[in-house]
Amino acid sequence: MDSARIREEFFRFFEEKGHVRLPSAPLVLKDDPSVFFTSAGMQPLVPYFLGKKQPPAKRIATIQKCFRTTDLEEVGADTWHLTFFEMLGNFGIGDYWKKEAIEWGWELLVQRFGFEAASLVATIYKDDDEAYDIWTKELALLPPEKVFRLGDLETGDETNFWSPGPTGLCGPCSEVFVDRGPQGGVPPHDCSPAEDCGRYLEIWNFVFQQYDRKEDGSLVPLVKRNIDTGVGLERLAQVLQGVVHDTFRTDLFQPLVRKIESLSGTTYGATAQTDRSIRILADHTRAATFLIADGIAPSNEWRGYVLRRLIRRGALHAVGVLSGDGGG
Ligand code: ALA
Repeated sequence: MDSARIREEFFRFFEEKGHVRLPSAPLVLKDDPSVFFTSAGMQPLVPYFLGKKQPPAKRIATIQKCFRTTDLEEVGADTWHLTFFEMLGNFGIGDYWKKEAIEWGWELLVQRFGFEAASLVATIYKDDDEAYDIWTKELALLPPEKVFRLGDLETGDETNFWSPGPTGLCGPCSEVFVDRGPQGGVPPHDCSPAEDCGRYLEIWNFVFQQYDRKEDGSLVPLVKRNIDTGVGLERLAQVLQGVVHDTFRTDLFQPLVRKIESLSGTTYGATAQTDRSIRILADHTRAATFLIADGIAPSNEWRGYVLRRLIRRGALHAVGVLSGDGGG
């Protein structure tokens, strides 16, 4: 299934479930200068979640352009970290809750996209018995041994508790992973989804947004609770295109990788060093292109500086690929 069809199937599915399709917001949000770059589908919708603006509908679906700097250094080292990606998301604004979010996500993955149910596992926040019961009893989608309780706010472990930053809208979350099997990652293969060993590929995050976190860290319950979900298009494509171990082999990256191969005379898969550089070049040129298209120019200051860093790092690796020794 090519990426254009994945996008369209996603929108159609959620339209059938009463959602209104909205276009992607830019990578820099005009109305929210505190956000460095749009890094999640929920960010442009924050005024609706907070009740500050009337939403066009209580159920919304978007495919949001996202850019994250958190994983910048990881890009290239493995075959799945990215800076720029597209986040498919369905949102319920004071509307549906955990059961529908989980049920619809599963239905789309398994019944429409044909994911093997047996290959899926889920994580939940440690105290979230409601989500646990939905997964294991109410909907009975997964056996108890495939639902992992993670995170503990009291010890500062925010796994399975999602917020876009230190303050603001947040809540416990439940994530769905594809188990690529014991040979999926570097040793030890027999890890849990809490350990980033490469065995589990995160697919979908369902956030049960029920608090507004204040400066002092206190969690104020929201009057109206919201559903915020996000699934990476690149991750879906990896699974649906049979290249589950390498996002750079999806149709989203293949034209870029081929271009780099033809310009450099090297082949993706030739050596570990040039492969790393090819991945960095592919990710950074794609991200830089979208940032520039959304009005950012390279500079010495904040957003422009990030773009400059991307271009500089990409250029270093371009030299590495050309000389056949990676960019260092
Ligand atoms: N906002 C959630 C995320 O970015 C869905 O993972």
